[in-house]
Amino acid sequence: MIIKNKKELEILRDGGKRLAAILVEVSEAAKEGVTTKELDELAEKLILKVGGKPSFKGYKVYGAPTAYPGTLCVSINEEVVHGIPNGRALKNGDVVGLDIGMRYDGLFTDTAMTLLVGGGKNKLIDVTKKSLEIGIAQVRVGVRVGDIGFAIQQCLEKEDFGVVRELVGHGVGSAVHEEPEIPNWGHRGDGPELREGEVIAIEPMATEGNFKVKLAKDGWTWLTRDGSRSAHFEHTMVVTKNGVEVLTKV
Ligand code: MF3
Ligand code: CO
Ligand code: CO
Repeated sequence: MIIKNKKELEILRDGGKRLAAILVEVSEAAKEGVTTKELDELAEKLILKVGGKPSFKGYKVYGAPTAYPGTLCVSINEEVVHGIPNGRALKNGDVVGLDIGMRYDGLFTDTAMTLLVGGGKNKLIDVTKKSLEIGIAQVRVGVRVGDIGFAIQQCLEKEDFGVVRELVGHGVGSAVHEEPEIPNWGHRGDGPELREGEVIAIEPMATEGNFKVKLAKDGWTWLTRDGSRSAHFEHTMVVTKNGVEVLTKV
């Protein structure tokens, strides 16, 4: 658990705002016929333009055969998170998750959203987004991570969506992933308490079917086991005296 000081929070605020604007620009480019690699190249170009560095590129996790090769994670339909950009072209009706992380002046922010290619309404996307907002609304000094997970789980299960268990939110700011883990499920009053100045990423992942996931052969992409579609939203935020300040918003 790392408490950030005033100077660090200023940097995270600046980096978070810039990263949010970059994600909007990348999402606007996510149209039928565009490849996930093209989106990745756009994301990298925009991060370098603001003087940041893509924080996922070269990232290693325990058990993964290779370092992560992209700037962006692009996860289509049954892909839950960590889809590696490639030559696949988007199609109208695809549910596409875009996750992006930046190191800016030495500090890290992380944000994600999901969209429906070609536009239109999608309940999975809308409810997953709402579950993130409900999770964020729990955050204040002294809240426990279980309170956040409980609220997110309630929101998603009430609408019969599955809540992914294996992947969780996390502390962030000084590294891509820090303590504590922030599950999107759980029980009120469980787990560590959040303290003032702590920077965290909350990131619910929901499925249209069963919540169980598996890792693809590429060692990175998480897939739903039943092939159902999945959505993911994420914000980086700081715990403040009065509640919460979301850092990755435009
Ligand atoms: N952005 C992911 C998260 O939200 C982590 C991506 S790491 C990568 O925690 F290496 F897969 F890119
Ligand atoms: Co992320
Ligand atoms: Co994250």
